[in-house]
Amino acid sequence: MAKVAARRAGKAVKIEVRPLAGALGAQIFGVDLSRPIGDSLFADIYKALLNHLVIFFPEQKPLRPEQHRAFADRFGKVDLEPFAYPFKTPTVESHTEILLNVKEASDTSINVGGFWHADVTYRDKPHKCAVIYAKEAPPYGGDTMFANQYLAYETLSPGMRRMLDGMQAEHDSAMIYGGETARYASVSRTRVPTQEDRKFSASLYDTAKHAETIRTEHPVVRTHPETKRKCLYINRGFATRFSSMTKEESLPLLEFLWQHASRPEFSCRYRWTQDDVGVWDNRCAMHYALNDYSGYRREMHRISVHEESRPG
Ligand code: SIN
Repeated sequence: MAKVAARRAGKAVKIEVRPLAGALGAQIFGVDLSRPIGDSLFADIYKALLNHLVIFFPEQKPLRPEQHRAFADRFGKVDLEPFAYPFKTPTVESHTEILLNVKEASDTSINVGGFWHADVTYRDKPHKCAVIYAKEAPPYGGDTMFANQYLAYETLSPGMRRMLDGMQAEHDSAMIYGGETARYASVSRTRVPTQEDRKFSASLYDTAKHAETIRTEHPVVRTHPETKRKCLYINRGFATRFSSMTKEESLPLLEFLWQHASRPEFSCRYRWTQDDVGVWDNRCAMHYALNDYSGYRREMHRISVHEESRPG
């Protein structure tokens, strides 16, 4: 009531930010995302995103696609391009900007995003952030994990940081390493994947059938354009090698960095409830969608926002 009265009186509404874990993540209370968000309120939300890397809005009303889009528009230029192979995912009807990430109760195969990654880093300008809406959540399972890549960089030894600073890495949409976990069929208390599930998942991701891959290079350590902090930028999903090295030479160090970057201490885990909204900063956080809700339906609607310039 106090918030409604404050709004009516034209006073600024203060949000409540509740951290979720030591490394990253916060829940935001006191915002109704079905209504237009004023500049001062948005400035507080954006500050929370920069401070916590991933923010969640529980207790929201059901959002229509236009309301979801209106909120995403506040973060920058919304991505309207189709995803490159292997992410030929459907979109919400009449809203090509809203990626429909749905897994049916009967579907035992892959789920989108089941591997540690930052989104579309195979593009020259990957995504700045994503605004995801939980249209339908399973009663349990289907959580998303996030990992803080500032901490991943800052906890490396001075020698390793010196070596990585200034190095470049190649990123490829073919997912030659990161695909392993994404290809893994669902697991739950009552069901483990069969050979059939595995074959089905593997056939969907047969890279030989799809030549349409995208490749680019990015710094291994990037500086966040707004916080000016350095973070590690070599996700297992898409990074394939250091630009100045062969794949064979790169792999042992990449393997170390991937393990390090997803240490539990750098992570938080969010359990979705229907109508929750989440926003992650794709420039400094990685995420992983868990495939452990076999027998339940999950429907997520995701809008992505472009980076303004190339990672540097
Ligand atoms: C993704 O966008 O990578 C998946 C996120 C999710 O469904 O939790």
